[in-house]
Amino acid sequence: MGSTPTAMPAIILILWILFTVSISEALGGSAGIGVNYGRLGSNLPPPAQVAQFLARNTVIDRVKLFDTDPSTLQAFDNTGVAIDVTISNDLISNLTNLPFAKYWIQANILPYIATTNITRILVGNEVLSTANKSLISSLVPAMQNLHTALVGVSLHHKIKVSSPHSLAILATSDPPSLGRFQDGYDTAIMKPLLNFLRATNSPFMVNAYPFFGFTRDTLDYALFRLNSGVVDDNTGLTYTNMLDAQLDAVFSAMKLMGSTDVDIVVAETGWPSMGDAGEVGVDMDSARDYNKNLVRHVASGMGTPLMPNRTFETYIFSLFNEDLKPGPMSERNFGLFHPDMMPVYDIGILTTEARMEVNPVMTPANPMPTDVKRWCVPKPSADVMALQENIEYVCAQGIDCNPIQPGGACYHPNTAQAHAAYVMNEYYQSFGRNSFDCDFGQTGAISTIDPSKHDS
Ligand SMILES: *[C@@H]1O[C@H](CO)[C@@H](O)[C@H](O)[C@H]1NC(C)=O
Ligand SMILES: *[C@@H]1O[C@H](CO)[C@@H](O)[C@H](O)[C@H]1NC(C)=O
Ligand SMILES: *[C@@H]1O[C@H](CO)[C@@H](O)[C@H](O)[C@H]1NC(C)=O
Ligand SMILES: *[C@@H]1O[C@H](CO)[C@@H](O)[C@H](O)[C@H]1NC(C)=O
Repeated sequence: MGSTPTAMPAIILILWILFTVSISEALGGSAGIGVNYGRLGSNLPPPAQVAQFLARNTVIDRVKLFDTDPSTLQAFDNTGVAIDVTISNDLISNLTNLPFAKYWIQANILPYIATTNITRILVGNEVLSTANKSLISSLVPAMQNLHTALVGVSLHHKIKVSSPHSLAILATSDPPSLGRFQDGYDTAIMKPLLNFLRATNSPFMVNAYPFFGFTRDTLDYALFRLNSGVVDDNTGLTYTNMLDAQLDAVFSAMKLMGSTDVDIVVAETGWPSMGDAGEVGVDMDSARDYNKNLVRHVASGMGTPLMPNRTFETYIFSLFNEDLKPGPMSERNFGLFHPDMMPVYDIGILTTEARMEVNPVMTPANPMPTDVKRWCVPKPSADVMALQENIEYVCAQGIDCNPIQPGGACYHPNTAQAHAAYVMNEYYQSFGRNSFDCDFGQTGAISTIDPSKHDS
């Protein structure tokens, strides 16, 4: 098993390309990775440059805007990038008037729709969190009017109407199976909202942030890192990450409203890479792990314990670090990119070409780093339980584990040590051979000695 050192460069290059291609393919369908394009920055590049960068250099194929800014909509023309536009909370009560809704579509959508791929209109943001009763009661009527206006111009198949909610709409979220909506809003607002979404084939959208839910003890669980998992005693299901638990709490609440068939979209999720001195869990490694593991999890199509095999279109918050955002320093550091469009950290969303530009070692003339003969191996001190966890973790990330199954080429020797050596190395090689891809909770080490030579 394993590869001979001379065969490694070609194999790694192929794995690298396959990984990039498979992410693009996995994300190309109905579910994928999008990004929130907030513009509260003093130093952000012009929208046209951003649109070209996203379309050419990243696998991101959908963008969520917090407004309907005309120059931004123009910037995305002929890129094919799917755009979600947002109508501010201030206009929701006006939209309860159908002529106004028709006028709004005429003025804000029709001028751009021929060339810009607007696919969704989001009515307000976290409207229920405003606790403004007249605003909240206007939400569903406003959405209905916008849909009616879209029907009037035959755009209702192309453009869907939805509205993102914060997880504060849930009265209970733990355990996930007991998730339910806040009393008072459940039948009065959520039920008609979900009925509208079902009738118009539109998704339910939630802003889900494990970042705002973790404690010191659950940091690994929040970051999709190796952890012992959390069992829902009500169902016996084990959760390996907090996002799944949050989504399943939403699912349980929807189930009480009879709406399990409405798609769920993660409208915002993310993790800051820098914060004030006292902010726990805020650093580059945490942000990178969260967003990188998030992309993998979404691309895997595994779904959640209560929603197996379902995919969730997901919008990372945020595209850029935004220096004008108020609040703690972490608020200004949720970005995947600096304003000069250099990645803050690498989560595998750049296309192969763009990676070569960022990492000059990867030029076509010299396609691989020179020190290619590196393997990830278990540390001799690693205990069997930890190695078993590594095996389960890697096999759940979309790595092909058939070779270590009975009858597979690497089944013998049938020890946790040997199987872990195989899968940990596969993981390390396929995800770009970063040192952090061989950490495995400090049970892995990078070696320059081919481990397969010791196996037989
Ligand atoms: C618009 O975006 C959707 C969703 O990603 C995609 O299916 C469709 O092909 C895009 N349309 C164009 C014209 O590129
Ligand atoms: C929305 O309604 C308010 C109150 O009726 C009004 O003052 C405002 O001008 C309206 N906005 C637009 C854009 O028509
Ligand atoms: C509640 O929303 C309505 C309609 O948008 C608005 O006119 C009113 O000022 C809001 N009330 C408060 C207290 O913000
Ligand atoms: C999920 O997909 C797997 C593999 O394709 C399949 O074996 C399993 O039955 C599916 N589960 C559900 C609930 O659809």
